[in-house]
Amino acid sequence: MLTFFKRMRSSNTPYKPMNVTIIDIDNESHLIKYKRFEYPNLMELIVNTYYSEIGECKGKGLCGTCVLELVYGKFTNTLSKQEQHTLLVHKKGGKGFRLACQIVLDKNLDGLTFKVITV
Ligand code: FES
Repeated sequence: MLTFFKRMRSSNTPYKPMNVTIIDIDNESHLIKYKRFEYPNLMELIVNTYYSEIGECKGKGLCGTCVLELVYGKFTNTLSKQEQHTLLVHKKGGKGFRLACQIVLDKNLDGLTFKVITV
C-alpha cells in the first residue's frame, strides 16, 4: 500500500520541472525548463523566456509565425485541422513541423528539441 501512495504522489506531481530545447534562427540552442501547464502553450513559453519575434496572432493558429520543426525526439500529438491548414499555407505541411502555439506544455515535450523556422 505504501508503494501505491509513493507512486501516486510521484506521478501526480503537477509541477515537476521538465526541459525542452529550442534552436533559434541563429542556430543557438536554448534549454528551457518548464512546468506542466505553466503557460497555455509552447509559443508563450518561448516568447516569455527568450524570443519575442513569434506569435503574431497570439496563439490562434493563424499567422504561422511560430512554426517549429522537431529535430530530436518523438512527438505524437495530433494536429488540429486549423494547424494543418496554417502549416500548408506556409508550405510546412511535412512531417515534423508544428505550430508552437498549438502545443500544450505537458510531459510529452520533456527532452524534445525543436528548431524555430522562419516562414
Ligand atoms: S502564434 Fe500565430 S500561428 Fe502560432
